[in-house]
Amino acid sequence: MNPIPLIIDCDPGVDDAVALLLALASPELDVQAITTVAGNVGGDLTARNACWMAQIAGRHDVPVYPGATRPMRRELVDAAYVHGPSGLGDLPVGVPTVRLQDAHAIDWIEQALRAAEPGELTFALLGPMTNLAHVLQAHPDLTGKIDRIVAMGGAGPGKGNITGNAEYNIWADPDAAEVVLDSGAPVLLIGLDATHEVRSTAARTARIAAIPGERARACTTLLEFANRLDADQHRRDGAPLHDPCVIAALLRPDLVTAVPAGITVGTVDGADLGVTHLDLTLSDSLTGWVTHLDADGLFDLLADRLAP
Ligand code: BDR
Ligand code: CA
Repeated sequence: MNPIPLIIDCDPGVDDAVALLLALASPELDVQAITTVAGNVGGDLTARNACWMAQIAGRHDVPVYPGATRPMRRELVDAAYVHGPSGLGDLPVGVPTVRLQDAHAIDWIEQALRAAEPGELTFALLGPMTNLAHVLQAHPDLTGKIDRIVAMGGAGPGKGNITGNAEYNIWADPDAAEVVLDSGAPVLLIGLDATHEVRSTAARTARIAAIPGERARACTTLLEFANRLDADQHRRDGAPLHDPCVIAALLRPDLVTAVPAGITVGTVDGADLGVTHLDLTLSDSLTGWVTHLDADGLFDLLADRLAP
């Protein structure tokens, strides 16, 4: 099979960084660009962090484009309290030799879609959906160039991680999520109901730690940071590994259980802000909701790809 032409839009972010290591080591994916957005930390840092992870992955060939530095209609509320001030936990970060591209991510995505054949490009959205939303709002005719969008975001009732019912990526830019979900492109949304099953338990983390090489060492540092923080807050065995679920779903669709669902997002200030509402009666919906992801399968994949 030909590799999937993929654009990874992300806000690294500890779990975004693990997702990048997995994606950039996977020959099934033709990663055409990494585009970054403000989210977990500010836009300057997410862009720098993406370059740093591409460097660790040994992928100087993948261009990194810096994108939106704030949500569509709101101020940025970051999640540095989960990802550390740098965004990459306690992974040492230097000046990357992978340089940022001059073009803005929003302009580059527009051009890439314009140049693509109908249904050619796949998007992995690992942060607030601001960049792609700007493009699709301004140029709805470009939706047809998208094969599909796989995104991390959303939560079932009572399962939120930023408010009681809301998940961070959707809540941080609900207006962008609304544009993307309403765009008419096929979207598979992987929310907290599924990602909370995918934990880097002590045993799984030890397995990654036993793999030699810089990529596995960096991955271990990231997982251990997330685990320490998570244990302080929740006292459970292993932090959820959200964003790598998107990459795993692209690499191994058989690891994923999903249902068709109409998905709308609360965009008005108040308790409903950023909440994802699912309508499971729409069996022909273009949007899908992941109900389960095989955690052992994901860690098998990660261990396989990080091995030298
Ligand atoms: C999502 O929010 C971010 O903090 C993580 O990187 C992930 O994309 C989880 O709610
Ligand atoms: Ca993220």
